[in-house]
Amino acid sequence: MSMKIKINNLHKVFQKGDSTVDVLKGVNFNIDSGETVAITGPSGSGKTTLLQIIGLLDSPSDGSVNINDEDESKSKESRKSKLRNQYFGFIYQFHHLIPEFTALENVMMPLLVRNQSITECRKKSAGILEKIGMHHRLNHKPNELSGGECQRVAIARALVTEPQFILADEPTGNLDPKASTNIFNQFMELRDTAGSGLILVTHDQTLAEKMSVVYKLDGGILVRK
Ligand SMILES: Nc1ncnc2c1ncn2[C@@H]1O[C@H](COP(=O)(O)OP(=O)(O)OP(=O)(O)O)[C@@H](O)[C@H]1O
Ligand SMILES: [Mg+2]
Repeated sequence: MSMKIKINNLHKVFQKGDSTVDVLKGVNFNIDSGETVAITGPSGSGKTTLLQIIGLLDSPSDGSVNINDEDESKSKESRKSKLRNQYFGFIYQFHHLIPEFTALENVMMPLLVRNQSITECRKKSAGILEKIGMHHRLNHKPNELSGGECQRVAIARALVTEPQFILADEPTGNLDPKASTNIFNQFMELRDTAGSGLILVTHDQTLAEKMSVVYKLDGGILVRK
């Protein structure tokens, strides 16, 4: 099954007391599953804002987020969360792991939401944690893990469902070059085996250039480089 996302004339204005911040000023963007795209741009340019709107975690002030030709930006929250769980693997800039849960339990969450059996969830989750070098920390909680380890657990949680789209916000920000290359390889493996698309927000130019298309967000506008 192939999917497509089409963003039309996206605007986002944040209201802060009397002042307004115009973060996105008419962004257009397309991606099909199986494609890889990088979004770069200076700090504060709106990359996280854009990714959250694409991932149906935030709503635009104007414009549409079409998923398979259906504008989902104004859909009900229950539908949005179902779409997120079914189709997206979101890697947050600040990992957002559940503090009370172990690494393994955090990764199992999206599979449990899909009503898969506990045995199956545990097996798949342990498998992906092993692939990213976290097999020795399955039963540690986030506050017993390093920053880069938390980031890897959050990556495992996003990949465990083999999503149609991986939305990754600076996923390798806390990782050393070897761990970073491993994560890149996991993304490519999922593209090849599950046809996953990748939207990668990053300040790492070398990593960005490994994607098939590179965009830059600046002054509220997204341009292809
Ligand atoms: N909830 C909010 N209310 C008000 N302003 C906000 C809000 N969220 C973000 N902003 C502002 O929008 C701008 C874009 O923020 P965003 O987090 O999208 O930037 P970014 O490109 O991801 O930056 P970085 O590279 O540092 O992660 C910033 O100036 C920020 O202050
Ligand atoms: Mg950001």
